[in-house]
Amino acid sequence: MDMQHQLQIAADHLKRAQRLVVLSGAGVSKESGIPTYRDAQEGMWQQYKPEDLATPAAFKKNPKLVWDWYAARRQAVTAVQPNRAHLAIAALQTLIPQVTVVTQNVDRLHTRAGSHDVIELHGSIMELKCFDDCQGDPTILDETSLGADRDGVPTCPHCGAFARPNVVWFTEYLSESKLERARDFCQACDVLLVVGTSGIVQPAASLPYYAKRWGSAFVIDVNPNDNEIATIADLALRGAAGDVMTAILALLTNT
Ligand code: APR
Repeated sequence: MDMQHQLQIAADHLKRAQRLVVLSGAGVSKESGIPTYRDAQEGMWQQYKPEDLATPAAFKKNPKLVWDWYAARRQAVTAVQPNRAHLAIAALQTLIPQVTVVTQNVDRLHTRAGSHDVIELHGSIMELKCFDDCQGDPTILDETSLGADRDGVPTCPHCGAFARPNVVWFTEYLSESKLERARDFCQACDVLLVVGTSGIVQPAASLPYYAKRWGSAFVIDVNPNDNEIATIADLALRGAAGDVMTAILALLTNT
């Protein structure tokens, strides 16, 4: 089947959909030029592996080092813009009654593109929280009223523990409430659009199964490469997220 025919099938399913879930991963931000962990390990960071920086143990051992690494990543993310894929996904909200974006990305680009209902499974690099979550999990901190620095790192104004990025680190668990919400939406949706994820990292990788086996969704995989999602997808659109999502949106809006 040629690509145009496949795109039309995707558009037809989306046209009929009342409830859509978009499950996204690193590939959706590729065109924005988001540095991957690997790309970000340049300059002074070259000597560290992400696994040695993105863990609670690493932060406890050297809070300033981890803080500075995240500050650099955050600056890099702030400097880029949402791309055509993020914008097309946001535009689907005007065409489908219920659209939920479930993302593994911490870059907040879906929100910056205009998506309203975004479940950030791995948190967001744009938020800070209390290391001890002293007011409940997560204790998000207002950046304009942080406590005084200790060892070069700002502290929680409530309890004095270190402030840290609100992201899920290696060895940490995802928020159960976010995961439950994501599973519920997947189970109830008509179409699950999986964009730019390898489908390897759990528990996000299990969400298509909630949509397909426990729900009755039509599952579309948007990815230039073969991946784990392909085993469960009804339709695999092999192309870059920006190209494919723009083409689908054009079919839906007849432009
Ligand atoms: N458009 C769409 N997909 C793309 C593009 C593109 N332009 N370029 C690459 N991809 C695909 C790759 O083929 C791959 O399948 O994006 C996917 C990225 O896979 P991963 O790097 O494994 O990213 P992701 O699935 O988001 O990983 C989940 O793992 O490293 C952790 O916490 C991190 O959130 C991340 C999680």
